[in-house]
Amino acid sequence: MILTKGLTRIYSLGDAEVVGIENVDLDIAPGEMVVLKGNSGSGKSTLLSLLAGLDHPTRGEITVAGYDLNSASPSELTLFRREVVGMVFQSFNLLPTINVIENTVLPALLAGKTLSESRKKASELLEWLKLSERSNHLPAQLSGGEMQRTAIARALINDPEIILADEPTGNLDSKNGRIVIDLLAELNRKRGRTVIIATHSSLADDPASVIIHLKDGMVIHPEWDR
Ligand SMILES: Nc1ncnc2c1ncn2[C@@H]1O[C@H](COP(=O)(O)OP(=O)(O)OP(=O)(O)O)[C@@H](O)[C@H]1O
Ligand SMILES: [Mg+2]
Repeated sequence: MILTKGLTRIYSLGDAEVVGIENVDLDIAPGEMVVLKGNSGSGKSTLLSLLAGLDHPTRGEITVAGYDLNSASPSELTLFRREVVGMVFQSFNLLPTINVIENTVLPALLAGKTLSESRKKASELLEWLKLSERSNHLPAQLSGGEMQRTAIARALINDPEIILADEPTGNLDSKNGRIVIDLLAELNRKRGRTVIIATHSSLADDPASVIIHLKDGMVIHPEWDR
């Protein structure tokens, strides 16, 4: 599902170069639940951005769900970002002026689906996420846990094969953090999605099938075959 070889992202800041990640080799099978760990600045967000097709590597190979992200055309990349991967962020990134169900259906409408099929799918997701009663609320009228569950609904609306979550519990208390990790684990176990979570928290250690440790942009002692 995910194959990288020598994957490297160096940021240029004027004359200085900062290593984001360096020579990362990954081979992640479909259906894995991967937890990315490492200190602040170790490269977790850099790696997730590359896997999500939001950023380009400085060098190295990267193939995700059959898309060679180095050679993909702009239109293929748009399709990839919209329909193949679903992203969840620490800060939720909901649009503040539209309500929960509108936030959820938006990526489906952008993908060309009809409003009625998109709303039907969104309602099902919101019901699974226990948000049906909040469908017409604006993001500012939600708790943090509800905001993150809305973001999960939005990430799932186009049925992505891969879910990438960057510190999804970072702004949540431990109870809501647990709920979010359990939902991601359920997507992995019951719906067969490949899930990759970057997190400082140990909440995701139990359901993980692979834990990858990053240090200074490099992979150290990955724990395969857990
Ligand atoms: N846009 C950027 N421009 C320059 N340097 C960057 C940029 N983004 C990240 N970096 C640098 O790349 C390195 C890896 O950063 P990254 O954000 O991937 O770490 P992280 O593991 O996600 O950290 P955190 O746990 O704090 O979120 C850091 O040294 C960071 O300063
Ligand atoms: Mg980060």
